[in-house]
Amino acid sequence: MEGSKRLFLVCLLLALATAAKGHGDHGMCVEFYSTSCPQAESIVRSIVYSHLRKNISLAAGILRMHFHDCFVRGCDASVLIDGPNTERRARPNLNLKGYEVIDEAKAQLEAACPGVVSCADILTLAARDSVVWSGGSSWEVPTGRRDGRVSVGSEASTLPGPNDTVAVQTDKFKAKGLNVQDLVVLAGGHTIGTSACQFFRDRLYSARDPSIDSAFVPTLQALCSQDGDGTKRVALDTGSENKFDNSYFYNLRKGHGILRSDQVLWTDPSTKPYVQRYLGLAFKYEFAKSMVKMGNIEVLTGANGEIRKKCSVIN
Ligand code: HEM
Ligand SMILES: *[C@@H]1O[C@H](CO)[C@@H](O)[C@H](O)[C@H]1NC(C)=O
Ligand SMILES: *[C@@H]1O[C@H](CO)[C@@H](O)[C@H](O)[C@H]1NC(C)=O
Repeated sequence: MEGSKRLFLVCLLLALATAAKGHGDHGMCVEFYSTSCPQAESIVRSIVYSHLRKNISLAAGILRMHFHDCFVRGCDASVLIDGPNTERRARPNLNLKGYEVIDEAKAQLEAACPGVVSCADILTLAARDSVVWSGGSSWEVPTGRRDGRVSVGSEASTLPGPNDTVAVQTDKFKAKGLNVQDLVVLAGGHTIGTSACQFFRDRLYSARDPSIDSAFVPTLQALCSQDGDGTKRVALDTGSENKFDNSYFYNLRKGHGILRSDQVLWTDPSTKPYVQRYLGLAFKYEFAKSMVKMGNIEVLTGANGEIRKKCSVIN
């Protein structure tokens, strides 16, 4: 038997076996497109890299978009659907970036293998490629997700917010099958990207937060003035905003966390040991492992959902 056919069969058998056992990952597998669209992964990668070469800040946008997709109705590309009252128009998603990258990859894939590769898989692969481009470890992405046909703006409330306590963050992750370790290692995604001042400014002024290093307060105040533009953006990982490394955790230890939800991971005894763990070498590898877990949340497979023709509209 031809190699790629055998791989596909293994994938199919795996799918049947896991479906029979009722397992959560529904038999997605790394070889899913090996016969139907063998160039799927390389097409996504080349489009993502061509955009990141021009503007590295999109890497953070794409990583965050995948997280926001998976936490609302699972990783089904519901965040990409456009229209009134969709997730995409909901408050937590207004600053998402990188839609054009996913759309371009989809257009090329429709030309190469029409109707085969889902938007949900494209976004998942693009998130992995964004981490790799930024200096993180690579991992194999199980594929076989299908695209959802529903997007409801109000459901974005399942996403964690910048003021959430550790208890609230833990509950929101637990509701998606992710534990405290997953929470801390995935929050390490804030090793790249930026936040608008409006999400943390009160910590510097009206609700002065004693957990911020007092020597760091003036630095942040200079970046975010009390009455200035709340949409101004500041690095979540001071000093290393485009590099996927573990300096985010060193910043938490120093009291240099930007969001309240970041800094509490260090001050709360239930998450502090994990922050300490990620000061070491385990971060990149365990981030990759938890990304696979996150990428499997409530996925649609088999006959469920559809393969969207255009990522922003249901068929
Ligand atoms: C644990 C709870 C989390 C909270 C409360 C949270 C909250 C936030 C907030 C408020 C921002 C700034 C948004 C803006 O300015 O519009 C942000 C940015 C970001 N988040 Fe999170 N986040 C969390 C977890 C995650 C996870 C799990 C990932 C990915 C694995 C992630 C990836 C990112 C990235 C990459 C950015 C920067 C986006 C950019 O520069 O465009 N976050 N997050
Ligand atoms: C890169 O993209 C970001 C966000 O989309 C934008 O604010 C910034 O101006 C861009 N930088 C360049 C050099 O184009
Ligand atoms: C966070 O809490 C502060 C008050 O402490 C508030 O001004 C701000 O609007 C809150 N932000 C969000 C996104 O809920």
